Amino acid sequence: MNVPLLAMDEGERADLDAFRRDVLAGLAEAPRAIPAKYLYDARGSALFDAICEQPEYYPTRTEAAILRQRAQEIARLGGRGCALVEYGSGSSVKTRLLLEAMPDLHAYVPIDISRRHLEATARRLREDYPGLRVDPVTGDYMALDALPDTISDARRIGFFPGSTIGNLMPEEAVLFLRRARRLLRPDGALVLGVDLKKDPQWLHDAYNDRAGVTAQFTLNLLRRMNRELEATFDLSAFAHDASYNEAAGRIEIYFRSLRDQMVTIAGSRFQFAQGERIHTEYSYKYDQTEIAELARQGGFSVAASWTDPSRLFAVAFLK
Ligand code: AVI
Repeated sequence: MNVPLLAMDEGERADLDAFRRDVLAGLAEAPRAIPAKYLYDARGSALFDAICEQPEYYPTRTEAAILRQRAQEIARLGGRGCALVEYGSGSSVKTRLLLEAMPDLHAYVPIDISRRHLEATARRLREDYPGLRVDPVTGDYMALDALPDTISDARRIGFFPGSTIGNLMPEEAVLFLRRARRLLRPDGALVLGVDLKKDPQWLHDAYNDRAGVTAQFTLNLLRRMNRELEATFDLSAFAHDASYNEAAGRIEIYFRSLRDQMVTIAGSRFQFAQGERIHTEYSYKYDQTEIAELARQGGFSVAASWTDPSRLFAVAFLK
């Protein structure tokens, strides 16, 4: 948010208050952590898009290739006249692969926390697909319990790509699936993208790209705190720290203090020891058995699952 305090609307003020509260609370905890959602300000979102272009970050292009190859099959499983409901749609790039294969879609319902992002996406899609009904919903998909009346008679097919489910703790992932089950109704289905367990070196490289874009993405959080919370982080005194925890089956991302130092954030002073790590994000990886178990706990079953030849990524059709 680059908006000066006086020019902020009520929603922006509430977001800033929540950011300040969550940062101060997260840094008061042991171990220290800041919720991953704060990585995605405008610059963070642009940096994430750049991560997706890095040669080491295989998930985006691998999932897109699977979707491209399986779009007709997904459309057939979804059935004619269904409504496609996308969770956390962002710029809906992968959605287009499904939209192309579903010309008789009843409606496309993108859900996103950012109204600005949603409106821009909806406008672009209406231009590119003139016959398509686009009914955007602004909100947090973890808390949403209703969809527009316009799709009340259509079968609902959820779409949650990108392995964003991996950024949830496994128990949150189950809660997400249970909520999706309710929202999509008993005859609905969910198309879920999941990053698979694999050689840890691949995972390490994907989160430590040579161009340093993922590092910039992590350290952008410090930049954001400097700007929005009047913090005094010296960006050169912290490093991005990402590694695969094989026992937990997850990538763990932190920013690490390179020396003993004091930082002021929103008027409070925090001491960081040399080597201290502050957690920002987990990215869980699953195998096919774990995906089936996750689906079962969430009230779904795996009707179909597709992967790439190197078994890096899976797209599952959950019923
Ligand atoms: C958005 N999400 C699925 C990404 C991931 O791979 O967990 C976020 C990310 N963080 C660093 N690189 C990518």
